[in-house]
Amino acid sequence: MGTKYLSSSFTLMVLILLVMGCEMIKCSVSYDNKAVIINGNRRILLSGSIHYPRSTPQMWEDLTLKAKNGGLDVIDTYVFWNVHEPSPGNYNFEGRYDLVRFIKTVQKQGLYVHLRIGPYVCAEWNFGGFPVWLKYVPGISFRTDNEPYKAAMEKFTQKIVGMMKSEKLFESQGGPIILSQIENEYGKQRSALGAAGDAYMNWAAKMAVGLDTGVPWIMCKDDNAPDPIINTCNGFYCDKFYPNKPYKPTMWTEAWSGWFNEFGGTIHERPVQDLAFAVARFVRTGGSFINYYMYHGGTNFGRTAGGPFITTSYDYDAPIDEYGLIREPKYGHLKELHKAIKLCEHALVSSEPTVVSLGISQQAHVFSAGEGSCAAFLSNFDTKSAAKIMFNNRHYKLPPWSISILPDCRNVVFNTAKVGAQTSRYQMLETSSQLHSWDTYSEDTTALEDSSTFTAPGLVEQLNVTRDSSDYLWYTTSVDIASSEQFLRNGQKPTLSVESRGHALHVFINGNFAGSAYGTRTNTRFTFSSAVKLKAGRNSISLLSIAMGLPNTGLHFEDWSVGVGRVKLNGLDQGQRDLTRQTWSYKVGLSGEKLNLVSPSQVSSVEWTAMAAIAQNQQPLRWYKAYFEAPNGDEPLALDMGSMGKGQVWINGQSIGRYWTAVANGSCGVCHYTGPYRSPKCQAGCGRPTQRWYHVPRSWLQPRQNLVVLVEELGGDPSRISLVKRTTRSVCVDAVERHPMVANYQVESTSTKRMLHQAKVHLRCARGQSISTIKFASYGTPTGTCASFRVGSCHAVTSQAIIEKMCLGKESCKLSVSNSYFGSDPCPNVLKKLSVEAICSNTA
Ligand code: GAL
Repeated sequence: MGTKYLSSSFTLMVLILLVMGCEMIKCSVSYDNKAVIINGNRRILLSGSIHYPRSTPQMWEDLTLKAKNGGLDVIDTYVFWNVHEPSPGNYNFEGRYDLVRFIKTVQKQGLYVHLRIGPYVCAEWNFGGFPVWLKYVPGISFRTDNEPYKAAMEKFTQKIVGMMKSEKLFESQGGPIILSQIENEYGKQRSALGAAGDAYMNWAAKMAVGLDTGVPWIMCKDDNAPDPIINTCNGFYCDKFYPNKPYKPTMWTEAWSGWFNEFGGTIHERPVQDLAFAVARFVRTGGSFINYYMYHGGTNFGRTAGGPFITTSYDYDAPIDEYGLIREPKYGHLKELHKAIKLCEHALVSSEPTVVSLGISQQAHVFSAGEGSCAAFLSNFDTKSAAKIMFNNRHYKLPPWSISILPDCRNVVFNTAKVGAQTSRYQMLETSSQLHSWDTYSEDTTALEDSSTFTAPGLVEQLNVTRDSSDYLWYTTSVDIASSEQFLRNGQKPTLSVESRGHALHVFINGNFAGSAYGTRTNTRFTFSSAVKLKAGRNSISLLSIAMGLPNTGLHFEDWSVGVGRVKLNGLDQGQRDLTRQTWSYKVGLSGEKLNLVSPSQVSSVEWTAMAAIAQNQQPLRWYKAYFEAPNGDEPLALDMGSMGKGQVWINGQSIGRYWTAVANGSCGVCHYTGPYRSPKCQAGCGRPTQRWYHVPRSWLQPRQNLVVLVEELGGDPSRISLVKRTTRSVCVDAVERHPMVANYQVESTSTKRMLHQAKVHLRCARGQSISTIKFASYGTPTGTCASFRVGSCHAVTSQAIIEKMCLGKESCKLSVSNSYFGSDPCPNVLKKLSVEAICSNTA
């Protein structure tokens, strides 16, 4: 962005206000080329995504308070159409879907809201947020210039905006909503659809602006967003992004803090040093709005996960973890970054950067706004080496792939690669409340033809039949085998092959389980092919086809089909028999679903068998139930499903989601923070189930007799399912001593002074815990990372004793990383650090 824009920014701001159709007096949020303007002030805004249905209302206050304490100004959420309008015209804004309550909770914390209405949201959410009934509106085509679609989209958008207005939630009415989003990442779609895409987006822009919310609208990842809508960036980095008009601010609506996971895949992590580097890069080139996607990812409860195969956990490696606990060092390091950026706010919003080259891969971006207001960002893009540079006649050392922030153009208050925040390691500890009184109930896999809903010639598309009321659809047919068939005598079995368009399939022959096959998230087509046991006479073939989350992304994903495609039997005397076109009977869902066995009031409607009475024979397709007492305390809870296969699980009638212990396949190596991040870069959890633990919200429990019901498709040992609590196991610090030169500089601003003064590092266990052991302590040149620290060639012998004295028996302690603190300098002229691992235990 050039300085030429700045001079005319005021005129342009007024122009934008007029375009938006609101007068200066009543319109309190606007924008210019530098920033979003709230009540006349340009702001650097730090924002984080928290999706309300991915946690419980009981968690919202704590989550938003943590967000505020982490230095955020704004909470961003999508609006999830399919949960709000489960059937046309029937709305649901209760419980987890209470959008107004969520926004008011954010408001109570003094934070703003960015409301991303969509109503297409992507978000790894079932069907990208669209209600499935929408697909069956006559003549509809999603996300294009199509009248039925536009009418439905407008109606829902109006509904949401109307609700917000009547609750006075827009900032123009004194509420917290400062921004709204229409559509989501339309750019790619627009290129694919051409003129129809353009017409649709022009219509969407006009429709949204016409709703007269008094706050700006944005469109993310669509370079052609029409005025006055601001186009914004989504990505791992956005410092190469500029808005499509010189009078719009540079905004980053999705700074991906990690990545989502899929069953059978590895866990994706993003090092905080790289995330902080990405944010600092964006700010130094003039970016003024950053939203972490996600700040708290949460859980895809019920059947809300998109797909196929998105895990129930939507943890996202976010600063607040799935369970609502702070993830360190991610949270703490970003908090420091936010403080540093805020110290620069005045200079950032008032000037354009001057860029000075300091080396091949080193630069200074200097924002100088007069009257002593100056902020500098010193960057080193070298992925291997630290750089020693001169800036304003002073020396600075920059670690590889890092930016130092100097809010007064002299003192470094923060470097993106130097993490002072502690690392927390959590554990899943068994609770004293174990699941008891296990009973089982078997799905009938023998008489499916009798209980089927309808028969039809040929194979039908799954979603057309289920309308997504269940993941499951039974396809059943029969095959007559003549007693003269050779295979009945020679011991060779015929092969059944089933082509499926997703997502998973279990095959039953004459009621007996004969095997399974699965697609993948990116390739949902697969073929089941296996020798099967057939008898002379009539045989039944039942295929249980499973949709594991409807797609949420891709061109016209609403047209993608699910279910069985072709079925053939090979190895008969006649060769091959094609079963595709014969008569099939269909049954939607499992009997246990129809009977609503998961609900405490309906659970007794069938005869259950006590588990103790049956042999543990790993039977597929069984329901199980048990009871448990709520454990004391307030630690988050989870079910350890490690002993099970694949299915769904409910507590007191509420679905905690799909589970699957599919083992993570990928490549888990050492993860370096340096160098560009992409989601395959830092994988974890290879060889273990992608998801073993399933969040059980505390608020869903009663003191006693909590009912857990699950349906297991494959087989497993439910008696080994346990209720665990998530607690801090240990905390670590790994902090470099302050560069001695820094201390010599003159510091004028008191807030900069305060930040510099915080050279201390903290060790903090969870509430109700204390530090019981110092497992490792070394001031010197220790190596390794938390849980695997080792003493290096330089080590202050006083380290252990000093840390023990300061920390043992305490919930938290403050430590200095300096020679004087440890008595003397253990190795002069060597840059030292302090590494500590402390074990946290519950105080009785
Ligand atoms: C973006 C999309 C988000 C989410 C994200 C990946 O492209 O806008 O909704 O799907 O990708 O987590």
